Amino acid sequence: MSIYTDHYALAKEVLPGGVNSSTRFNKALDVPFYVSHGKGSRVWDIEGREFIDMSCAHGAGLLGNAHPAIDEALRQASELGYVNALETPHHEELARLVCQCIPCADRVRFCSAGSEATLHLIRACRAFTARDKIIRVEGHFHGYHELIYIGGHPPQNQFPQNRQSPYIESPGIPKELAELIIPIPYNDRDALQAAIERHGHEAAMLILEPVNYNCACIKAEPGYLEFAREITKDAGIVLFFDEIQSAFKKSFGGAQEDFGIVPDVCTIGKSLGGGLPLSAFCGKAEIMDMYQPVGPVAHSGTFNAHLVPVLAGLAFMREAAKPEFYATLQKLETQLHDGFAQIIETHKLNAVVPHHGARFNMMIGRKTPALRYEDTFCHNNQTFLKVLKACWAKGVYFHDYGGGPFHHGYSVQHSSDDIDRVLVVLEEVLTTYRDEL
Ligand SMILES: Cc1ncc(COP(=O)(O)O)c(C=O)c1O
Repeated sequence: MSIYTDHYALAKEVLPGGVNSSTRFNKALDVPFYVSHGKGSRVWDIEGREFIDMSCAHGAGLLGNAHPAIDEALRQASELGYVNALETPHHEELARLVCQCIPCADRVRFCSAGSEATLHLIRACRAFTARDKIIRVEGHFHGYHELIYIGGHPPQNQFPQNRQSPYIESPGIPKELAELIIPIPYNDRDALQAAIERHGHEAAMLILEPVNYNCACIKAEPGYLEFAREITKDAGIVLFFDEIQSAFKKSFGGAQEDFGIVPDVCTIGKSLGGGLPLSAFCGKAEIMDMYQPVGPVAHSGTFNAHLVPVLAGLAFMREAAKPEFYATLQKLETQLHDGFAQIIETHKLNAVVPHHGARFNMMIGRKTPALRYEDTFCHNNQTFLKVLKACWAKGVYFHDYGGGPFHHGYSVQHSSDDIDRVLVVLEEVLTTYRDEL
């Protein structure tokens, strides 16, 4: 670790906290995890140690590290001079593929980060409805910007009052913006109905993560999304699925295909770029055509749909369309979760590992999946940080997320042997901390 700490000391001189993304400071290690390179299912740290990568870039690396199809896209981009800020036929080709696979997408626009995608789509939804308020769900995450980084993850001591006075998740966000946010619990039809009865006339959208990977992988209970679809339609409120994480994790059509519910609009991202920065927002033509030059809503940007990630996105879509792609991910999912179930059962662990496609969340302190945000308060972050550090010491990297019950995952380049090794390590570590779980 001494190379880490030396490097960290230098990085802190020029980067706030030594990092470019605040959560890259690894609380489990007490320094950032410094890597030199990656290949396939592996990353190597700056001390030359090899790790099985169970973060996969927070879900962006569904193709794994250095996939040959992405290498080829990078070569093609180089030959084309990686022209930027201009349209090419490749943009139209990628847009057409997205519109073919994502059920709600008549039209799509590409940008870089998921936060950008939610920001721009919120603007169009507001313009379309001529309303400003946002009904959002507790535990769900939609990016770090001022419009929506409110009321999602209140600390336990701020929790019940979050519904009256939405919790502002970072200093610097004006308190007036909290007046536009209406937090509700997930999977609670009565709460959704009450919010719409009270605020329907002023609410532009209901935004949610159909699979709440940003909190314990809480899934919509049967009938909830159907109810949300119906009630928002009746109230003239846009139904907005944030599929930045759920897109492509289980199927080509994302959670919309998995649950059979078509929202009005959605955001997709992370794995779309094959590891490069590419996100998108899409939806019904009448909402997407709110954007200039056809409509009045502004959306522009120098790096929107840069050619390099667009070509990588095309490569990703072609890989994901191959029949073996989801068959491989499905096999790994079954192997990992059968193994988890056996470990939990054998050692009577107080833990649960809900999953959906190629991502899963580990939660301690309960044996059954959470149904809503407050069900996760039993999870002990400090114990979990010890678990993650011990896995790291044995060559398996899970991102720490401050020890919270967040998401982890694997790629199409992970092998059955990788999953076996991950299970061996987890069994050793979880049994070591058994009494603290
Ligand atoms: C559901 C969801 N929305 C939005 C975002 C923000 O995406 P990005 O980190 O690319 O800005 C994330 C990132 O984790 C996410 O999971």
